[in-house]
Amino acid sequence: MIAPHSPLFRIGQGWDNHRIEHGRPLILGGIQIPSEFGLAGHSDADVLFHSVTDAVLGALALGDIGMHFPDSAPEWKGAASVQFFQHALQLAREQGYFLSNIDATIILEKPKLKDFRQQIRENLAQAAGLPLTSVSVKFKTAEKVGPVGEGLSCEAQAVVLLARNT
Ligand code: C5P
Ligand code: MG
Repeated sequence: MIAPHSPLFRIGQGWDNHRIEHGRPLILGGIQIPSEFGLAGHSDADVLFHSVTDAVLGALALGDIGMHFPDSAPEWKGAASVQFFQHALQLAREQGYFLSNIDATIILEKPKLKDFRQQIRENLAQAAGLPLTSVSVKFKTAEKVGPVGEGLSCEAQAVVLLARNT
């Protein structure tokens, strides 16, 4: 029999990708970015919140966002993705863990996002209950290569560290 395992730290990684779609808002980290297009998705298609949610679920080895919030469920249509993240954090708390820090990257060819870095970080920090100094959000283009580079989609990657309460 394997002994109960409750390590001091748990690391998690998340990745997501959404198709670009005209006539939709571009919402990243809960912030609406001025843009000619948005992202396709069942919820608000917030690729950043989806990747950090998957990172937290991954740290806990509790599956992925689609397992907890199926995109076939009518109640999640147009949903604000911050609630998926907060659900994952609740699961962490129930297991005696708190979020230590977030490091995320959004890969999008355009528009430029750097003017919104502070707003996105503040919103993510507030949702996470973390100080700003523990929330990093980076932006990259894909240098015009591949689906992201050709302006067909937007990707996000995230790493989180959970620490045990006691
Ligand atoms: O992808 P690349 O290294 O050329 O990006 C250069 C800088 O442009 C990044 O460091 C980032 O600050 C910014 N950027 C941005 N919005 C994007 C992509 C990149 O603000 N959509
Ligand atoms: Mg998603």
